[in-house]
Amino acid sequence: MKHLEFGTDIEDPMAPYLAVDRSQPRHECWVTGHMVAGLDGTAAIDGKVGALSTEVDQKLFRQMRQIADVVLVGAETVRREGYGLVRLSDEAKAQREADGKPPTPPVAVVSGSLELNWNLKLFKDAPDHAPTMTITAASADPDKVAEAKQHATVITAGEERVDPAAALQALADRGHRVVLCEGGPTLLGEFVAAERLDELCLSIAPVMGGDNLPVGVMPDGGGVHNFELKSVMGEEHTLFLRYEAAQEDRP
Ligand SMILES: NC(=O)c1ccc[n+]([C@@H]2O[C@H](COP(=O)([O-])OP(=O)(O)OC[C@H]3O[C@@H](n4cnc5c(N)ncnc54)[C@H](OP(=O)(O)O)[C@@H]3O)[C@@H](O)[C@H]2O)c1
Repeated sequence: MKHLEFGTDIEDPMAPYLAVDRSQPRHECWVTGHMVAGLDGTAAIDGKVGALSTEVDQKLFRQMRQIADVVLVGAETVRREGYGLVRLSDEAKAQREADGKPPTPPVAVVSGSLELNWNLKLFKDAPDHAPTMTITAASADPDKVAEAKQHATVITAGEERVDPAAALQALADRGHRVVLCEGGPTLLGEFVAAERLDELCLSIAPVMGGDNLPVGVMPDGGGVHNFELKSVMGEEHTLFLRYEAAQEDRP
């Protein structure tokens, strides 16, 4: 047991995240989850993240997208949050372009039902360099698939449900090697159960009493998965933790 104490100021909170080597994923892609939880583990308040996330956390959330080749998100989060496009600072965009990446990453929405609001900017205004994708299963309603194809690039991965491994392989085939999974808890749980979560950036907000929705919802039989704490940062009363999948969980 060790006592953790606040150390020196960190000039750029993104620096520790940018320094991580994500070139050796366990499987198809490196998957980073980025989530915020209350002290009781809750992932939302009245169906939204907003009240859980401090200003610093929100800034980090937006900046973290700099690391992503693609941002992955579950359909329910898109429906509840009215998800928008990825916006980055000019500096972040320039750095990405210098690294041979498009200035902003595309968003990929996982949905079995394809019940999505196609009028969202996420679909209507996606830039040519980062067209929005939907990832669905072969069982999806063909009429819904046809409609989805008018608004997004449709990827089919899995039969009854989207299979995380197949979804990641499809993204890897498109050159997307670093996947930033922004939740929600159901989607995150599916990826953890499939042993596809390489890294978790978890903010702990000093709040209790939100929705009865933990930050990760495992599917039945999803197993128990171990992580190693890699870094801890703090700002006022919020903690910023970074974990990686435990070495013994690595092939
Ligand atoms: N605290 C945080 O960091 C954080 C982050 C994100 C979201 N949230 C909050 O979490 C809540 C939403 O989370 P949620 O867990 O209810 O939903 P979610 O994970 O965002 O989305 C679940 C939906 O994604 C689709 N999906 C996920 N896995 C699938 C699979 N294997 N195959 C096919 N479809 C799949 C399904 O869409 P269809 O229903 O279309 O088939 C499913 O209903 C919101 O309140 C949001 O504000 C919190």
